Amino acid sequence: MSPPPLYRCAAAPRPSAAPTRVCLLGATGSLGRQTVELVERYPQRLRLVALAAHSRVDELAAAVQRLAAADPAADPPWVAVFDAAAHARAQAVPALRGRLLPPGEAGLLAAAALPEAEVVVNALVGAAGLAPTLAAVRRGARLALANKESLVVGGELVRAAAAAAGAVVLPVDSEHAAIAQALAGRAWDEVETLILTASGGPFRDWPAERVREATREDVLRHPTWRMGPKVTVDSATLMNKGLEVIEAHHLFGMPWSAIEVVVHPDSIVHSLVGFRDGSYLAQLGAPDMRVPLLYALAAESHWPLPIPRLDWVAVGALRFEAPDPQRFPCLRLARQAAEAGGRAPIVLNAANEVAVAALLAGRLRFSEIPGLIERSLAAVPGGPVRDLAEALAVDQEARRIAAA
Ligand SMILES: NC(=O)c1ccc[n+]([C@@H]2O[C@H](COP(=O)([O-])OP(=O)(O)OC[C@H]3O[C@@H](n4cnc5c(N)ncnc54)[C@H](OP(=O)(O)O)[C@@H]3O)[C@@H](O)[C@H]2O)c1
Repeated sequence: MSPPPLYRCAAAPRPSAAPTRVCLLGATGSLGRQTVELVERYPQRLRLVALAAHSRVDELAAAVQRLAAADPAADPPWVAVFDAAAHARAQAVPALRGRLLPPGEAGLLAAAALPEAEVVVNALVGAAGLAPTLAAVRRGARLALANKESLVVGGELVRAAAAAAGAVVLPVDSEHAAIAQALAGRAWDEVETLILTASGGPFRDWPAERVREATREDVLRHPTWRMGPKVTVDSATLMNKGLEVIEAHHLFGMPWSAIEVVVHPDSIVHSLVGFRDGSYLAQLGAPDMRVPLLYALAAESHWPLPIPRLDWVAVGALRFEAPDPQRFPCLRLARQAAEAGGRAPIVLNAANEVAVAALLAGRLRFSEIPGLIERSLAAVPGGPVRDLAEALAVDQEARRIAAA
């Protein structure tokens, strides 16, 4: 039997007046930069105690300096730099030097495990996020999870660890944050379906022949969201929605058959929950990731945020369409891997990461991505996964096969 779902409704906010101490993994990325901006906006309520990135040392140093200016009384945050050469460069930067954690995964794990960090925001990209996710939930921290790959690769492991430690996992992905808001305070047995909305990406209305000719630049031109390169490519293939189906299953414990996907090109309805009496609740808003980020940082309450409000008359109508499995086979591949379970979602994710990196490097065409993933899934034998070491070994094997 699976461990309980990760998400628990209505986590109580802290009564204390002291700022919530936050560790931010992926501080220099699209979501990481928006998290830093929110912490700067709320120095009385939020304080960064650790920042981690792969190699963008200058951005890290700039963030540390801005945070010091916004909150001069705070101790400077600990800093983890994954890449060894970048870590060596960071040792020469005065703003970072005295607070550096070790390079590589050890630094990421040390940041996630810092006892003073009440909240860990995991905004890393890719399967590299799994070990830090486990480090955070194992010590019972509140995890604000953007890194959906953690749950695709190790959903069962994360659920077991969170149940054992009593950790709360709050979704940052806009779709899952919308579902959490629609569920708040309701009994699970009232819920019939979760409906994830998808923008449809830049090729939603392109004919198949034109999609086959799509360039890297076409792929990166997302119609509604500004995001990091990997999730932007995943949105164009609809793999992102496949990964989110798996994420929803582990967060909310619903069976695969009860998790639906609908294309909603306006990106205003961020997802819906269908209840057993035929009613639906949705969360709506402009496509702005600061909203779900702040909701998780604020322990599920709505703090003020001066972003442009929606003009409902200008919005006029909301459109919904069925996803097209012919033009976007990645959604089907993700569902098949999800239902097979065990090693299959790990292989799916690894092959997808290899394919996306190859596309971004100009070595693979957009239309070749699904075939590469399908061949990798066929080449790696299935079977159960018992622990993190085994999950990472399957991940490495699948990467080797996909790269070959
Ligand atoms: N961006 C969005 O709007 C959005 C929306 C929903 C969900 N998400 C999810 O959120 C996650 C982050 O997305 P993103 O778009 O913010 O990604 P991104 O812009 O590519 O940023 C990734 C961050 O992770 C860091 N990083 C990557 N590998 C690392 C490693 N091995 N060790 C330490 N740091 C590492 C990068 O550091 P460097 O900068 O030094 O390379 C960067 O700070 C993804 O799982 C994505 O699917 C994103």
